[in-house]
Amino acid sequence: TNVLILNGPNLGRLGTREPDVYGTLTLDDIQATLESEAPEGTTIDLRQTDDEATLIGWLHEAVDTKSPVVLNPAAFTHYSYALRDAVAIVTTSGLPLVEVHLSNPHAREEFRHTSVISGVATGVIAGLGADSYRLALQAVLARVS
Ligand code: DQA
Repeated sequence: TNVLILNGPNLGRLGTREPDVYGTLTLDDIQATLESEAPEGTTIDLRQTDDEATLIGWLHEAVDTKSPVVLNPAAFTHYSYALRDAVAIVTTSGLPLVEVHLSNPHAREEFRHTSVISGVATGVIAGLGADSYRLALQAVLARVS
């Protein structure tokens, strides 16, 4: 199984971006952790983009290649109906997609309390730093046949 780990805007700056909120691990560090823990036969395809259209294209690709998805939509979480619709295409096709956040958006500013993604995601894991990704990987793998 190839698992897509998709990351939205500003997550390429992890490591130095607001470390009090997001920690000091980089996306490369998170990728290395996931690869080291992935069971035999599982490959990790971790990507990041600041571009909404690119992220939507990757979700269409997940459907075409039947890949389960771990998605950190970053700020798109809070307002992108286009991304929500793309996530719905994934989950209604029968593929698991878990929404993840490093921080706990509910403990932060009011505008972060709304996710337009969660209602169409398979599940949501937030507030656990890199562990959010580790747990989400386990969850999607447990849901593919
Ligand atoms: C985030 C939370 C979002 O509110 C924020 O816009 C991000 C990162 C997280 O992983 O905690 O960019 O998705």
